[in-house]
Amino acid sequence: MAAPVPAAQEESALLAVRDLCVNFRHDRQDIPVVENVSFEIRRGEILGLVGESGCGKSVTSMSLLRLLASPPAQIASGEALFDGVDLLAVSERRLRELRGDRIGVIFQEPMTSLNPLYTVGYQLVETLRLHRKMNRLDALTVVVDMLRQVGITAPDRRLNQYPHELSGGIRQRVMIAMALLCGPDLLVADEPTTALDVTIQAQILDLLRDMNERLGAGILMITHDLGVVAETCQRVVVMYAGRVVEQAPVKALFDRPRHPYTQGLLSSIPRLDSPREPLPTIPGTVPPPGQRPKGCYFAGRCPRATERCREQTPELAPDAADPEHSFACWNPSS
Ligand SMILES: Nc1ncnc2c1ncn2[C@@H]1O[C@H](COP(=O)(O)OP(=O)(O)OP(=O)(O)O)[C@@H](O)[C@H]1O
Ligand SMILES: [Mg+2]
Repeated sequence: MAAPVPAAQEESALLAVRDLCVNFRHDRQDIPVVENVSFEIRRGEILGLVGESGCGKSVTSMSLLRLLASPPAQIASGEALFDGVDLLAVSERRLRELRGDRIGVIFQEPMTSLNPLYTVGYQLVETLRLHRKMNRLDALTVVVDMLRQVGITAPDRRLNQYPHELSGGIRQRVMIAMALLCGPDLLVADEPTTALDVTIQAQILDLLRDMNERLGAGILMITHDLGVVAETCQRVVVMYAGRVVEQAPVKALFDRPRHPYTQGLLSSIPRLDSPREPLPTIPGTVPPPGQRPKGCYFAGRCPRATERCREQTPELAPDAADPEHSFACWNPSS
């Protein structure tokens, strides 16, 4: 069950995701992958979405944009209100108009948004012509400038190349350029910099922060890297095995994580003051969809688990002293 959200917050949300449930159909069975996920991105904020590999971050974000192949994926319930429009209910045509214009998307895999049949220049210019009704020459100027901004040197040379002729890093940057081209109100960025080297990574994060500050774009930043979260995000949603387990402003989450899973994630970040000490990791692995236990899905790995945790599912609920900080745990740390 989704935690209730105060009406005032809901009004100001750029994107409000409510009670999203996504199943995958496998051997004529519906296996829940994403379960009752709720969060919101406020106007002008960067929201981090974190969690170990396989916990459902990409399935969540791809579902919001209806980009998962169906079957096998099936959105079982939920809504995703973008500026009041439910992305899960609008026509495919309206959704396509929004994607690439008011909503930009950066995927883990660049070829999800690049068309292998067209040159880089053609795809970028056409995106602008379609959504911004620009003439070809003006569009070309904007495209070249954007390619430069994402760290591509000699952008003129890239225009005539096809995606497969580019290295992985350049392809990733072309996709980022494509996502930012129309100055979107919302950017969904799934591991936008993981595949890039450190210098380019920093450059791209700067660009995203700048877009957020200058244009007030809201960003959903999906990442493994809690360092990226600390540097760029205002609030964080932590997912575990398809569910949201904790949600808080960045400072509160780092200073006082309440869910043992979040604590485990935080204690496995390298520290500047003791970089040589071996890092503790959370023992065990995320239970895959279809093999999730009863009760709290983290109980099997949790140092604080009790019988109740193995029996009953804890609901996400705000802390009595801080309504901005929610967690789903029977034995949160104080
Ligand atoms: N097309 C699919 N069919 C069946 N199961 C899938 C499909 N796509 C994803 N899954 C499963 O859904 C679960 C969530 O996957 P997802 O890709 O959302 O994880 P993630 O949090 O994005 O992980 P990562 O950090 O590795 O990107 C995983 O168990 C994955 O195996
Ligand atoms: Mg992913």
